[in-house]
Amino acid sequence: MTISTEGPRGLFGELYLRSSRPFLPEHVSVAEGDYLAARFAEGQATGLLLDLGCGHGRHLGQLAGRLPGRVVGVDLDPLSVAEARAVAPVTRADLFRLPFRRDAFGGSLCWYNTLGMFEDEAVPVALAELARCVRSGGWVIVHGTPPHAAQRQPEANYDGQLPDGSHLVEQVRFEEARRRDQLTRHLTLPDGRFMAASFFIRYYAVSEWEALFDAAGFEVRWVHGGVDGSPLGDASVDQIVGAQKRG
Ligand SMILES: C[S@@+](CC[C@H](N)C(=O)[O-])C[C@H]1O[C@@H](n2cnc3c(N)ncnc32)[C@H](O)[C@@H]1O
Repeated sequence: MTISTEGPRGLFGELYLRSSRPFLPEHVSVAEGDYLAARFAEGQATGLLLDLGCGHGRHLGQLAGRLPGRVVGVDLDPLSVAEARAVAPVTRADLFRLPFRRDAFGGSLCWYNTLGMFEDEAVPVALAELARCVRSGGWVIVHGTPPHAAQRQPEANYDGQLPDGSHLVEQVRFEEARRRDQLTRHLTLPDGRFMAASFFIRYYAVSEWEALFDAAGFEVRWVHGGVDGSPLGDASVDQIVGAQKRG
């Protein structure tokens, strides 16, 4: 059987960067950076930390300031990689085939529903790669949206102007059976250029993460509902799972 690890077509790169960044203000990345640095310190993560699907480097930038020389990133999109390299070392590579040696890292993070953008069957492949590259006792921190938060807004559509004058239209439909949002994103730039992509985001329940991590050789140690470290609850819009590699 061939496992599909293909991500969304046409989303990452210019369309993603232009349409996502206005919704990710600096104070959000600062709070996330504080949280991540604190979690890695608390877990006594040693050595290098890998940002899996680091994008344009918003967490790398935060962590590089707090943990100098200890963070590196990996991403497949050339535009994002070029930008992220301004703040930390970044390898352009596929997260399903990491070009790193066994036990290279003391921890890793994967933020913003990144692992939910691939078919379910691909996630164990990504976790197996992390299990190979993260040493025993090391940490993986995965961030996403809890399923109940997506369920609450079955049609979270957006139609508005971005600060650069672009017009963004996003249509979202929650598919209950597959716990996925099905999205189409259209962006028209002020110069008339048009970009579009269709993609999905799968929202994993904590019990699903527990099973996925267990199969990959990790133990879920904590789950938070936000970067304030609060427990996951009905009102949470974030779900952050911290798992430790078994020794
Ligand atoms: C949802 S974005 C999150 C970016 C970043 N973590 C953040 O929070 O801003 C997902 C990122 O994963 C990258 N990506 C998608 N497929 C990938 C793959 N197969 N290998 C490596 N990176 C990939 C995209 O280019 C994009 O930057």
